[in-house]
Amino acid sequence: MSSIKCVGVLTSGGDAPGMNAAIRAVVRGCIYNNLKVFGIKKGYQGLINDEMEEMFSKSVSNIIQTGGTILKSARSMDFKTEEGRKKAYENLQNRGVDALVVIGGDGTFTGARIFGQEYDIPIVGIPGTIDNDLYGTDYTIGYDTALNTVVEAVDKIRDTATAHSRLFFIEVMGRDAGFLALRSGIASGAEAILVPEIKTDYTQLDSFLHNEYRKTKSSSIVLVAEGDEIGGAIKIAERVGKDHPEYDVRVTILGHIQRGGSPSAFDRVVASQLGVAAVAALLDDQRNIMVGLSERKVVHTPFNQALKNKKALNPQLLELTNILSI
Ligand code: F6P
Repeated sequence: MSSIKCVGVLTSGGDAPGMNAAIRAVVRGCIYNNLKVFGIKKGYQGLINDEMEEMFSKSVSNIIQTGGTILKSARSMDFKTEEGRKKAYENLQNRGVDALVVIGGDGTFTGARIFGQEYDIPIVGIPGTIDNDLYGTDYTIGYDTALNTVVEAVDKIRDTATAHSRLFFIEVMGRDAGFLALRSGIASGAEAILVPEIKTDYTQLDSFLHNEYRKTKSSSIVLVAEGDEIGGAIKIAERVGKDHPEYDVRVTILGHIQRGGSPSAFDRVVASQLGVAAVAALLDDQRNIMVGLSERKVVHTPFNQALKNKKALNPQLLELTNILSI
């Protein structure tokens, strides 16, 4: 029998569509299990500033379909200090909050791991980031919605690219990871996909584009993850444009549009599953773990492992790109 009576929930780091569905699932999962639940505003900063209030079933009505996060998000510098974390713990004690659910990405879990080591408070993480770069889960909340946003945008760009026989470099998010670029590139029929995990061979890309662009003369789309070591879409487009003045080159940076919008059905279901699973894990006396999905089943991964291991891109998907863009 767990001794937990009151759970705090927060969202931290870059927001992702489906975070609201996850908050809803945590809140209702708590109430279902007769636990009190507090919503903490602006991530870890709200813990330090004591910005939290009790949530009820109706507090999360009508939010499953909305993007952003009703709890707001932040990247807290103060939480990186011992002093900040001490204040956060004192506030939790004063409020009677005896466990935490944190929704976010690797930065969020790094903070949780340190906090959970310093203080006796059980913490469970829920992966929420459009980057899908967390080890220990096949999918992070928000990834599927962002994928669909990118594909919709690339389809539109393809129309105009074809009309003008242009070569487009389209930059998608992914500071350290190419999951979004790879999958959206395959789904939108990109001719080439540049990801941070694989060193870009400019000569190879150049001769490939030369063949493709010259051969078809209709359009070419290269998807570039923002973290690719070649320096993003603008840099590579400049270089290609300089080497081939005969190409009609354009750049589109999709930017934060990828983080917004109503979550897809897939993300809503993942968020609902993981929100309830996080509460169940706390009641099962689990701590310092992330709940995730592996082959559609809920799995637990210690923060240490989730942070230490790098999730690998699927080699079969990488190979697909080579086969399909001939
Ligand atoms: O964490 C997801 C992410 O979308 C990264 O891919 C991107 O580099 C980053 O957020 C940008 O976030 P912000 O604009 O909030 O600093």
